Amino acid sequence: MGKGFFINKTVAIICGVAAIGAVATIIALFAVYTQEKSPAPWQSYRLPDSLSPVSYNVTLRPHLEPNADKLYIFNGHSSVVFTCVKETDLILIHSNELNLTLFDGFHAKLKGLNGATAPSLKKTWLEVPTQYLVVQLSSLLQAGSMYELFTEFVGELTDNLGGFYRSEYIEDGEKRVVATTQMQPTDARKAFPCFDEPAMKAVFHMTLIHPQDTVALSNAMNFEPINITIEGQKLLQTSFEPTEIMSTYLLAFVVCDFTYIGTKPGAEVLIRIWARKKALEEGQGNYALEKTGPILAFFENYYNSSYPLKKSDQIALPDFNAGAMENWGLITYRETALLYNPGVSSNGDKEWVATVISHELAHMWFGNLVTMRWWNDLWLNEGFATYVSYLGSNNAEPKWGMKDLIVLNEIIGVMAVDALAYSHPLSSNEEDILKPEHISELFDSITYSKGAAVLRMLSEFITETVFSKGLHTYLEEFKYSNTVYKDLWRHLQMAVDKAGISLPESVEVIMNRWILQMGFPLVTINTQTGTITQKHFLLDPNSVVDRPSEFMYEWIVPITWIKTGGPEQQYWLLTKEATNSNMSLGADEWLLANINMRGFYRVNYDSENWERLLAKLSSKHKDIPVINRAQIIDDAFNLARAKVVSTTLALRTTKFLNKEKEYMPWKTASRNLDYFFLMFDRSEVYGPMQAYIKKQVTPLFQYFKNITLNWTKIPENHMDQYNQVNAISLACSTGVKECVALTTGWFKDWMANPSKNNISANLKSTVYCSAIAAGGVAEWEFAWGMYKNATLASEADKLMYALSCTKEPWLLNRYLQYCLDPEKIRKQDATHTIVYIASNPIGQPLAWDFVRSNWGLLFNEYGGGSFSFGRLIDGVTKRFSTEFEYKQLLQFKQDIAGQLGSAAMSLEQVLERTRANMNWVAENQNKVLEWFTTETSSLV
Ligand SMILES: *[C@@H]1O[C@H](CO)[C@@H](O)[C@H](O)[C@H]1NC(C)=O
Ligand SMILES: *[C@@H]1O[C@H](CO)[C@@H](O)[C@H](O)[C@H]1NC(C)=O
Ligand SMILES: *[C@@H]1O[C@H](CO)[C@@H](O)[C@H](O)[C@H]1NC(C)=O
Ligand SMILES: *[C@@H]1O[C@H](CO)[C@@H](O)[C@H](O)[C@H]1NC(C)=O
Ligand SMILES: *[C@@H]1O[C@H](CO)[C@@H](O)[C@H](O)[C@H]1NC(C)=O
Ligand SMILES: [Zn+2]
Repeated sequence: MGKGFFINKTVAIICGVAAIGAVATIIALFAVYTQEKSPAPWQSYRLPDSLSPVSYNVTLRPHLEPNADKLYIFNGHSSVVFTCVKETDLILIHSNELNLTLFDGFHAKLKGLNGATAPSLKKTWLEVPTQYLVVQLSSLLQAGSMYELFTEFVGELTDNLGGFYRSEYIEDGEKRVVATTQMQPTDARKAFPCFDEPAMKAVFHMTLIHPQDTVALSNAMNFEPINITIEGQKLLQTSFEPTEIMSTYLLAFVVCDFTYIGTKPGAEVLIRIWARKKALEEGQGNYALEKTGPILAFFENYYNSSYPLKKSDQIALPDFNAGAMENWGLITYRETALLYNPGVSSNGDKEWVATVISHELAHMWFGNLVTMRWWNDLWLNEGFATYVSYLGSNNAEPKWGMKDLIVLNEIIGVMAVDALAYSHPLSSNEEDILKPEHISELFDSITYSKGAAVLRMLSEFITETVFSKGLHTYLEEFKYSNTVYKDLWRHLQMAVDKAGISLPESVEVIMNRWILQMGFPLVTINTQTGTITQKHFLLDPNSVVDRPSEFMYEWIVPITWIKTGGPEQQYWLLTKEATNSNMSLGADEWLLANINMRGFYRVNYDSENWERLLAKLSSKHKDIPVINRAQIIDDAFNLARAKVVSTTLALRTTKFLNKEKEYMPWKTASRNLDYFFLMFDRSEVYGPMQAYIKKQVTPLFQYFKNITLNWTKIPENHMDQYNQVNAISLACSTGVKECVALTTGWFKDWMANPSKNNISANLKSTVYCSAIAAGGVAEWEFAWGMYKNATLASEADKLMYALSCTKEPWLLNRYLQYCLDPEKIRKQDATHTIVYIASNPIGQPLAWDFVRSNWGLLFNEYGGGSFSFGRLIDGVTKRFSTEFEYKQLLQFKQDIAGQLGSAAMSLEQVLERTRANMNWVAENQNKVLEWFTTETSSLV
């Protein structure tokens, strides 16, 4: 599935929400059967291996108007041709929430093909827990024979963003309904009965029946629609060319009144961008269209494999749960992930569009052409797409520094998650991932971001060229079929051997350490002796790891390092402890390890080397590569959290920032200081802390004022554009007067002339937030009106965030109530909005009360089974650091037992985090207060 599943990245980039998604733990499930008998086949969540689908013929008709019972429905029929592999008298096929027509009392009809005789049906029923249609036969299906099973059904076209669902929007004052799909991971079975497992690949013949003023789309190219009449209604019937052999979770079909822009006829691959007519008229699809061709060409070259399909449709939907979904040939997106409006959208919005497109296109080969056998290997699919999305977007936008930004956007964030005792290994056992909710839990930041981090590490130590050669042979061998991760290791090993690259162990042996055990090492280098040690890094030193690891939490670590500005060197740490005499230093030398954070580990040094690095940062910070300036800050703050170094050492890594102009170190510092704000913004530390940051950021604010000629120009460089946002947001929030005057002035100008918004697109989010925070009800109501009228989704998102910045409790409470009204806040945005409100210190207790008192409603109406629920709990409890709050959490856990769904693991993590926060505050409050006070004592 697309990125942004566990976090709304657009807004994270803009407003600095730490990119720590909810991490779901997959607890090994040891089946304990109390009964003597083994369960019936239909009680097992996995399909038996007796039948194998060949092709489907599916006809669906979504009704875009409610029926007499005010229900939106679709109806259809489907036949599936399958081969019997092992003789059996049982057919199990997935079917969920469908009402099946009865034929002579049975839910299906069976036919033998090519002369085979079909046994008569004995009994059929729907097995609800495992989501099967069960067909018992009176005699056996013969191995080697083919049969066809026919079903006819009615389903609800719900608004819950899963299966075949509806999305609504208003155009020209009129409500429009779109029928669309989201099958991954296990919802194709809600659209028609199917063998709904990724390895059950087949060919699909789709037909859609739809109103005359609409268009129907699916994975394959359509034939010319034909006119038909059903019960006096004139309709269109659109059939599609047969698909390639593919998995059910990659199916998509859409009926809408959208238009498209596309490549000219005759292009090798037809590329089309579909969206609301208004959006395309405003040019919002142009950027996606412009970049899709080059990104496809980049991947063709990278994989050395041509694009497997004839066409590439991409469609922006008003209601969509994930960021995007890589349906083969028809990629679906949230509007913010595909549409871009120059002058109105920010550079962050643009980067999001480029990386999400790149992520989804990467899947067209890796994931779609070659597919994991089962969901336990999801990390490979998603981690891979996440990693190469940075290569693709780097190719599309070579000046942006995307290959550096992966560190900030994916790696640093997920290290904080993976350092918890409650984390989980990337790879799971196939037997442990059975139920749909277990599969859903896998869509987390570990899967996406840590997956990307370890694959990047591997690609770096075997080189990008060799990595891509291995991919090529892997895709060749397995196209149109399924794999397990070891198949990829085998092909990469072949490429490594062929290139003559020497590794201390095989790719598989090295990588097993990183994927089969959770967490990552803290590498400690003693530059006095040259001793190097490793240890499992845990953010909370008191936490207990109760998950055993066959590798005893030791890793095979590729250590890159430089000494006093010398050339980069590489060292493999193979054991718990080793000595490399090259790493012992003379006087005046310094050592820096994990260059450009290519390795997924943290580094600690002896205190002598720390002092030398700090001295280097204050004297000539540019001697240290920019990613490592960010790394030093991030490692130090995290080591301090874990009590490996002192908190004051961490704070000292921010002292050079008064000279720093680069984005990555600033962003890293502000994310780490966010934690200090969360812990202390309700305490006496707040004043001196504000004063210190104000002191550090003022030169940066002045620098941007200068290079933008008094804020009249946009900085040229992508990362400078981001850092200008940092400068303004930190300066305004720490009360730099010039800053507040600037942002409120801009906002007032806009209020005076609502049709003319002159606020630079990149700065909007920050300016809106700071002006609404400084303002009152008038500013809020104005922004709300603008939110309701916004025609560009990313603009609406910025306003939605900014509305949470007000300091008026009654406005925040009312805004929370709006989250329960889909007419005001779309369901897809409700949990984000609640989390935004909670990130405001004044909104925090209000949001927590709100979530507690409305849990049942939120759970039932807003997809308690979905991923966003973990994020909701995570988001509203970030500040928790007192005994009182801990007890509230325990009470909450009791109160909602049985109504937790996929949020259960998040709640455990939040409890763990709250304990850790309590300890941290007790330990650090006085030291931190003293440090900030000393640093700012010279100020008046
Ligand atoms: C699919 O079903 C339709 C009728 O519903 C039929 O006309 C068509 O031939 C079938 N196609 C295949 C490939 O079986
Ligand atoms: C399916 O059947 C149930 C029970 O008869 C009914 O309540 C429901 O509305 C039906 N669903 C659809 C989409 O027709
Ligand atoms: C379908 O009907 C429309 C009018 O409703 C007509 O313009 C069109 O030519 C018809 N198409 C075919 C293929 O008959
Ligand atoms: C302002 O920018 C100009 C170049 O645009 C530069 O020459 C000058 O030194 C800068 N002044 C300050 C105070 O940064
Ligand atoms: C910026 O504004 C200040 C006064 O507000 C003025 O003195 C200065 O000349 C302006 N600089 C530029 C480059 O416009
Ligand atoms: Zn994906």
